[in-house]
Amino acid sequence: MAIDLKDVNFHYPEEPNQRVLHIPSWTLSAGEQVFIHGPSGGGKSTLLSVLSGLFLPSEGQVNVLGQRLDQMTSRRRDRFRARHIGYMFQQFNLIPYLNAFDNIRLASQFSQQKKTPELHEEIQKLLSVLNISANDWYRPARHLSIGQQQRVAIARALINKPELLIADEPTSSLDPLNKEAFMGVLLSIVAENDITLVFVSHDLSLSNYFNRIESLSDINRPEGSA
Ligand SMILES: Nc1ncnc2c1ncn2[C@@H]1O[C@H](COP(=O)(O)OP(=O)(O)OP(=O)(O)O)[C@@H](O)[C@H]1O
Ligand SMILES: [Mg+2]
Repeated sequence: MAIDLKDVNFHYPEEPNQRVLHIPSWTLSAGEQVFIHGPSGGGKSTLLSVLSGLFLPSEGQVNVLGQRLDQMTSRRRDRFRARHIGYMFQQFNLIPYLNAFDNIRLASQFSQQKKTPELHEEIQKLLSVLNISANDWYRPARHLSIGQQQRVAIARALINKPELLIADEPTSSLDPLNKEAFMGVLLSIVAENDITLVFVSHDLSLSNYFNRIESLSDINRPEGSA
């Protein structure tokens, strides 16, 4: 099992009376790809932050790739995330003044060490697979088109060869053509590498790309009894 949640509750510390997540039980098998849709403010990003160990649940068990994130120190959770989880943000958060290459290198868990030829090669391979032309590898991210930046963000999420990829509305700023291209590239890489994928969006048209489709309101019942 890639993900196994039990009786997970979450509220933001500043608002102890407002429960954002109440998930009695939810699982995802290794190698599965799930699309979770739900309206703005429903708790999609919050759920992903709990799954990736950025946030600790207020209560409950968060088992990811066989490890109990709710029992780890924040340092161990950070290390676990860097090693096993790729994360694509809602705003993809490339560092604007760094070039594509260095944005990816920074995400590498080896980035503190001297840059190794293997890492260099790995990044080049990813950028090529993602159709970023070599002319653009060393341009600052802010000079790339939104579609190009999104593809660099995929590369960044994949550089550590994650078993689990978490995607938070990564297509929200793409036009229909770029969206289709992005989804095609993302899902083919995911399939080729047997990556487990949790993909959230409010955009129901994306459900066509997935076999497993869930509404967040079926998973998360913050109004329900504790
Ligand atoms: N840092 C925070 N502090 C307090 N409350 C927050 C914080 N971040 C989010 N919330 C609240 O938690 C709820 C869920 O927010 P979340 O960002 O998870 O929704 P979402 O489904 O990702 O929405 P969107 O589709 O707009 O990205 C909202 O009511 C929001 O106001
Ligand atoms: Mg969100």
